[in-house]
Order: sequence, then C-alpha cells, then structure tokens
Amino acid sequence: MGTVLILRMKGKKLKSVWSHSGQPKEKNSHKNQNRPHTLREEIRHHDYMYYVMNQPEISDTEYDGLIKKLEEYEKKYPESVTEDSPTQRIIGQRTNEFAPVKHATPMLSLTNTYSEEEIREWDKRANKILGNEKKEYIVEPKIDGVSCALRYEKGKFVLGATRGDGETGEDITPNVKTIRSMPLTLTKVSESTDIPNLFEVRGEVYITKKEFKEFNEKIKQRGGALFANPRNASAGSLRQKNPLVTAQRPLNFFVHSYGVIEGKKVFDSEWEFLRICKSYNLRTIDNTKVCKSIDETIDYCKKYEKERDALPYAIDGMVIKINSIAQQKKLGWTMKSPRWAIAYKFSAIQATTTLKNIVVQVGRTGILTPVAELEPVECGGVLISRSTLHNFDEIKRLDVRIGDTVLIERAGEVIPKVVMVVKTKRTGNEKIFKLPERCPECNSVIVKEKEEEVAYRCPNPSCPAQIARSLLHFAKREAMDIEGLGDAVVEQLVEKKMVKDFADIYSLKENDLAKLELFKDKKIENLIKSINESKKRSLSRLLYAFGIRHVGEKASSVLAEKFGTIDNLTKASIEDLTSIPEIGPVMAESIVNFFNQEETDKLIKRLKQSGLNMEEEIKEKKSSSLTDRKIVFTGELKSMTRSDAEKLVHELGGDATSNVSKNTDFVVAGENPGSKLTKAKKLNIKIISEEEFLEIIKKSPSIPLF
Ligand code: IVH
Repeated sequence: MGTVLILRMKGKKLKSVWSHSGQPKEKNSHKNQNRPHTLREEIRHHDYMYYVMNQPEISDTEYDGLIKKLEEYEKKYPESVTEDSPTQRIIGQRTNEFAPVKHATPMLSLTNTYSEEEIREWDKRANKILGNEKKEYIVEPKIDGVSCALRYEKGKFVLGATRGDGETGEDITPNVKTIRSMPLTLTKVSESTDIPNLFEVRGEVYITKKEFKEFNEKIKQRGGALFANPRNASAGSLRQKNPLVTAQRPLNFFVHSYGVIEGKKVFDSEWEFLRICKSYNLRTIDNTKVCKSIDETIDYCKKYEKERDALPYAIDGMVIKINSIAQQKKLGWTMKSPRWAIAYKFSAIQATTTLKNIVVQVGRTGILTPVAELEPVECGGVLISRSTLHNFDEIKRLDVRIGDTVLIERAGEVIPKVVMVVKTKRTGNEKIFKLPERCPECNSVIVKEKEEEVAYRCPNPSCPAQIARSLLHFAKREAMDIEGLGDAVVEQLVEKKMVKDFADIYSLKENDLAKLELFKDKKIENLIKSINESKKRSLSRLLYAFGIRHVGEKASSVLAEKFGTIDNLTKASIEDLTSIPEIGPVMAESIVNFFNQEETDKLIKRLKQSGLNMEEEIKEKKSSSLTDRKIVFTGELKSMTRSDAEKLVHELGGDATSNVSKNTDFVVAGENPGSKLTKAKKLNIKIISEEEFLEIIKKSPSIPLF
C-alpha cells in the first residue's frame, strides 16, 4: 500500500493515526465537517503537515475523503467557493501508489562528522588499512536535497527511484522525467568512453535558493502553506501524483555517486567517474575538488563552511571521498555506510524553539518593529534569543502567537527570522499579540502615516528610543566612527538627558561622562578622544550619519562628491538633485525636506561651531585598468560580496553600475548570471569571469584585497 511505502521512505511512523491492525483509527471524526471553512482549515492543516513538515497525520484515503466532502459542498453551494479554497489548487492529488523499487545495490548513507578532529580520526582509520599508500580525496558540497537514483539502459533513461529505506525505494520515473537538468538520453558530448549498457547514477534533486524564494512567494500570494526550506519543497514536488504539477516545480539534479554499472570497466577513480558523467551531459556538483592531503581537504571544507551562503543552492556540509576506486574497495563498507567516504556536517541554519514574547522596538525614524523573544536555541552556530518579525502584517501572515513553537532560520550574517509556526504544537494557551496603541518608549499615540503602508510609527521626534538609535547610527563605523559610543553609553546619555541631538555629543565634557555608570578614567579619555577625531570625518560620512530617509552610504558619497560642501548641498533644489543619475525623485524630496527644516539649520550651525569638517576631500583616484571604466556585475561571486566588489571598483576609479548599456565597458559574470549577461552578449560587450576580475584587481596599485 502506498502510504506504507511513504512511511518507509521517510523512516517516520504515523503512530497516532494507525491502529494495530494497520487500519486508520477513527480518531479524526471531525465535527461540523459540512461547514466549508472548518473543512478548508482542516485540509490546509493536513497539507501543511504533509508537504511542509513531512509528517502526515492522516492517511491519504482520509485526506481524499475530506477533499471530496468539500468538493461536494462547493458543488451544491457554488457561491461559497473561495479563491483560496484547497479545491482550487492543483496540489490536491496525493500519492498513494508509487510502485516499490528494489535497489540493485543498497543506497546507503554517509557517516557524519562534526569537527576537524573527527575528519582526522577517519583519515587515520583509513591509513591503518591502506598503510603507506598515497591518497587523494574528492571534496564536494553536500547538497541539501532529496537523494534519487537514475537508471539508464543503453543510454536511455528508464527509471527514477527515491532512496526509501536504502534497500527499497519508490518508482518516481514520470516525475523525474520533468527535471530539465537531467538528460533523457545520454549522449557523448566530448571525447569519452562509450556509454555502458547499464549506467545507474545517484544524486540529489534540489531547488536553488532563488527559485525556492520565488516559488514560496507564489504560494504566499495564493494563500497556501509555505515550504520551510528548499529540501521540503523538492521532496513535496517529487511526491506529486500528477507529473504535470511536478513539471511546474523548479527542480534540478546533480550526480554525486553511482549504483550498478554494467559493461566495460569505465573508470578507476571518482574524479574519472565525474568526468565521464559530464561527458554524457549529466550535471555534477560545481566546486568539486581533488585534494592531495587531509590538511587541504579540511581547509576546503572550512572555506565552504564560511561561504555556504554564497552558493546558489542550500548545502548542509561537505562530502569527502577517497578518489581511487581500488583504495575504496580495500576500505570497503560497514552495514550502513562506506568506510571510504564521510560527511562533514555544518551546523543547521534552522531550529525550532518557543516564542516567549513579542516586544516592540522603536527605530531611529520612529518605525515600530515587532521583535520575537525566543527561548535561546543554537542555530547556524550561534545562540539565538531574539528574532525580528519585520512588521505587524508579518505577525498576521505567520499567525504567530505568544507561546507558539516556531521554526527560525539564520543564514550567514543575516538576522534570524521566524519562518513559520509549528501549529501542531499548539496547546490552546497561546496568546494573540495585540498591536499597541502607544509607543512603548514615550507613550505617544502611534500612527500609520499612509493607509497602504505596513509600518506604524511613533510620531514624537523627542522619543528617547528614536534619539538613542539615531545616535548609534551617527556613531557607527561606516558613519562618524566614534569608538566607545555604544549601546550602554548612549542609553545612559539619553536617559540622563545629557544628549538630545548629534550636536550635544560634541559638548560632552569629561566630568559629564564621569557621571555615567561603569565609566572609568581611561574610557572617558578614549571616548573624548574619538569624539574629537570624528570632527575630521569627510562630508560623505557626515551626510550618511545624519540618517536622512532613503539616503544610504552610496548616495551620501555621490552627494558629497557632487556638491563638495554642505552649504552647496543645502541650497540644492529637487531639479539639481534629480539631474544626478544616482538620485531619484523620492530621495531628492527627502533631502530637500531635511535641509529645509529649521532644526537641521540649527544643528548644522552648532556642528560647525564645534569644528566639524563640512567639506569633501577631493580624492585622488588611483589610476588602474579600471579607471573611468563602467563595470556591471551579474550572478553570484564566490570570493567576495557584490557590494565589496563594487567598492573595489570605485576605489580604483571605476564605476560599478547596475544596468548593462552600450556604455558599459565590461561585465563580470559570476555563477548563475542573469539577463544582464544575455544583454551584454547582444550588445557585444566584453564579458570576463570572476577570476579575470580578481587578476585585474591584483595588478592594481595598493588595494588590500580582503
Ligand atoms: S556521496 C554512500 N555526495 O547525502 C553514499 N552524497 O548520507 C554516497 N548527498 O542521502 C553518497 N550531497 O544523497 C554524496 N556530494 C554528495 C552529496 C551526497 C548530498 C546525500 C546523499 C545521501 C546523504 C548521505
């Protein structure tokens, strides 16, 4: 029976809904099933458990029964059909009859390791068996997808199967056929060995991060249950009964290993196997490397641990394999996994925890942001106890309540976010969050400036929280860079009303600071010193430090360069500003509004009196092969972020623009380049790789690379 197979495949039990006889219990005898909204909610809940959590609570037959009931109701009362009714979605058909497939050789898993020491121990164990033989290692990302075996007979794709319990999987051939990145016929695209009679490759079905985001966005617009991560979306897509539905899912396939191969002995190393796959038009994992020593192997794993976010697909670790097939044979297998390979696992970027409370934070422009206070949990290698909820609409969208169990995600440097609520964990004691009527910091009545805006704000410019956040922004490294003016100091300065605006910072005396808690002589001296040093900062930094709405770091430096002094900028009209390509009408209006205010005028006068620099130093551009060149980046860069690359271009006197035009000098194409590359080709613009770009940078004068 199909459901039993699903159980086996996922290794999870449906304890709660199956009786000892194997028949579904009468547990879900739902009251009011004829009421359409109750039914719809119930179906949505089961969709969520099935597709998102991978933990179905009812059998497929029961589920089909619910759908049928709703369909019958809606047929009788067509006016009751809502746009978001589960009957209006295509994913209604569920799998219950994928045929079992016995794997010719078991699809085993890998032993997981979590530290450098464990990798070295594995290597030592291998050395014990291999003696003094020299080894090579194949190291590649561990794709966070769904394992799948593809069988080719005489070069023709004949069978696609899931891993199942490793011995027996499920036949998902029609669904696999919809994956465009897997060839239906193997063709030799380059000089290579003849295609064997039987060639079974194994690999990972996955969805790229970008496509996953877009896909979930579409589900969100339809009001459906979101997928927690790309892996769940891939698993759900492969399990579709109707391959037409699977065909609409952005699935991809990477080969990473093999099952049975019959015919001539075609390769004697993993690397050779991968090369042959490529020559047959099968996609192998990018960034696979042959390492000559365990140290090089570990370094490569660590590199990707740091850079995992830059990859276009989710990875949960690295896989290390001994390259030589002869050595693999000597090492052999345990019952569960090969001795010739291991997985080095990274810390998970998702975790579930309890949301203890929702507090409201006031930003420097008065915008109120709800923040979730969480039961501390490790996620992505750090302990997380708070997470932004972005805005009040997000609370509604997630239907998150105080006391809920939530799934959080932390990708790289990004602040952790609440992805979804685990509704099955609800006890009924959760509390719905109420939007406050007043600012939690100054008690002013909060406002929504425009009806269409999602943000609420505190309208009081003297709100201490707003002042504190503006001061922190003013002092931060990218702005006036005042070391020592951090959270604790600012909080006390504002609370004691010693600082009410930016200019007050420059009137602070040593004896004022001595009144602050935990403020020792040396610290006072250092803070006064860095306040004085900050007076010399460039105009561009000062403009950025003001925190003018819509004016970021880049716009501030454009303004400073174009106008040279603050007095010139103060006099600029909207027309003057919008004549600058980087400045749009919204930003221009915001700048003019800022400088038209009497308070701004007073502030600038006081800052001038304190001796602050109000001019932009004329930078002498370093002459390089990028000087006055217009460069466009497309795709993802491996060695640095896009913004760091753009900064480098600017430092070398070039201009990094976002659109390709006939004036573009060259385009740097990273991984998965977008439409800009197509446009560049059309316009015959020079295209260079990231490596070539790095070469140019390296040859340029005195630029520290990283
Ligand atoms: S090699 C004996 N390479 O990780 C298995 N597996 O527990 C040899 N996986 O479900 C597999 N990325 O599907 C290998 N680059 C990679 C992989 C990879 C992901 C999956 C694999 C299996 C699990 C291993």
